[in-house]
Amino acid sequence: MANYEPLTSRFGARVTDVDLSRSLDDETFVGLRNAFAEYSVLYFPDQPLTDEQQIAFSRRLGPLEATKVGSYGAGTPLVILSNIGEDGKVVPDDHRLNMVHKANGLWHSDSSFKPVPALASFLTAKTVPPEGGETEYASMVVAWDDLPKKTKAKIDGKVALHHFATSRNRIDPDMVTDAENDELPPVRQFMVRDIPETGKRALYVGSHTGAIEGIQDKEARTLIDELVDFSTHSDKVYTHKWRENDAVLWDNRAVIHRGRPFARHKHPRVMIRTTVAGDGPTA
Ligand code: OGA
Ligand code: MN
Repeated sequence: MANYEPLTSRFGARVTDVDLSRSLDDETFVGLRNAFAEYSVLYFPDQPLTDEQQIAFSRRLGPLEATKVGSYGAGTPLVILSNIGEDGKVVPDDHRLNMVHKANGLWHSDSSFKPVPALASFLTAKTVPPEGGETEYASMVVAWDDLPKKTKAKIDGKVALHHFATSRNRIDPDMVTDAENDELPPVRQFMVRDIPETGKRALYVGSHTGAIEGIQDKEARTLIDELVDFSTHSDKVYTHKWRENDAVLWDNRAVIHRGRPFARHKHPRVMIRTTVAGDGPTA
């Protein structure tokens, strides 16, 4: 039986005594699926997985997203986060591959810019830098619980617009390609989500969120920034310091995350993500 130890007092667990390279028996899998909803972030140390094994494990959680146009791995179930160029060397800091990592440095929920946003992401570490490059997670279930009543009343039932270009424009206004713009128009998402398995609710805002229906643009922008700040106070955050062959599975309904900087021009960092699709639009 898999063993679960809490990572923080309010969310996250470290999972041992389980081998994700093999097909899990039903009881172990159901336990893991329940723990996923309960803890929001599951960290599995020492899981050297081939891409096929990573895909097989993730698929058991649901159909996988195909990687969007413009990303490394486009059209496949793998998102490859790497700063190694075609010549096998680390690319310069301003290279597109590094820009992707910079954009991932803004707090976000994966694929919230898609009409059906992601349920889960599963990220495995292949090569990690000696320093920096951590991934941080903030629980939006905890954030929702802790929000003042007045703020809750203001946003409950509200719909926000999530747009891929909103987050990318914050890094570099020239970053989004025409193909990305065409494929990824703004989508509507509820600002508070229900997590049916636990009956809990979670705040749903991040770097792709740019506007709120019924609230004037400037006020909405301020409110979005305040909500993200509130949600990501250090007491609500788990920082994952990667080791090679670590795997982390997270619930995009329940956490936002960001990648931390590292010496991108100097050290290779290679991570592979599979993304489990959600089961419908939120709004
Ligand atoms: C991701 C992501 C951050 C990182 O894989 O979805 O945002 O630390 N990664 O690489
Ligand atoms: Mn991400």
